[in-house]
Amino acid sequence: PVLTQDELKKIAAYKAVDYVESGMVLGLGTGSTAYYAVNRIGELLKQGKLTNIIGIPTSKKTEEQAISLGIPLSDLDTHPVLDLAIDGADEVDTYLNLVKGRGGSLLREKMVEGACKKFVVIVDESKMVKTLGGSGLAMPVEIVPFCWNFTAKRLERLFSDAAGCVAKLRVGDTGKPFMTDNMNYIVDLYFKGEMGDLKVVSDEILRLAGVVEHGMFIDMATTVIVAGECGITVKNK
Ligand code: A5P
Repeated sequence: PVLTQDELKKIAAYKAVDYVESGMVLGLGTGSTAYYAVNRIGELLKQGKLTNIIGIPTSKKTEEQAISLGIPLSDLDTHPVLDLAIDGADEVDTYLNLVKGRGGSLLREKMVEGACKKFVVIVDESKMVKTLGGSGLAMPVEIVPFCWNFTAKRLERLFSDAAGCVAKLRVGDTGKPFMTDNMNYIVDLYFKGEMGDLKVVSDEILRLAGVVEHGMFIDMATTVIVAGECGITVKNK
């Protein structure tokens, strides 16, 4: 039987929740895959199979979900070190570097997941790529709204003609610019060729005034759980 993408997401999410132990401070991810993990954590808490969990949500949406499930919440100010975070990703390369943020929550995700001892990423096999940004899909960058077009143009100019970067402002359902939880905008970078050395690109993007954060998560994932038609693969750093 052929499994749907949603079923694969759920399989990866449930597998990741096996890593959760009672007493842990947990980073709760955002997106359609992380949704299943957060639900499962809520279910195990309700059944008494997990106790003393504290969740730190990576978005307002996940915060609402966690509250509806009765998961006790805290923040990075109170808990600056987390035991484990579980979250989805848009792309995963062979070195377990990620692109995240197509759901728009990259800044809080990076803050929370950067503070975790373990970061377990959950994906269906369609997210696996050879090189990040090479699949013609977006690499999101969170920028301040002030003169966003100026920042978007400067982002494009960071890349060579061969990379062929085009920056597009993300637009929400209402036709207005998409707003992040932090009241910033997102520009999505699209590439014709390859982005280049990820660490160099990362530094250059972050050096631009007006940029808040980008969606490349380099060297952050400690484990990636991939669910595919042929079963689950666990990749460790
Ligand atoms: C949210 O901003 C993102 O980083 C998500 O974690 C990522 O987009 C994966 O989402 P899905 O699980 O919905 O594909």
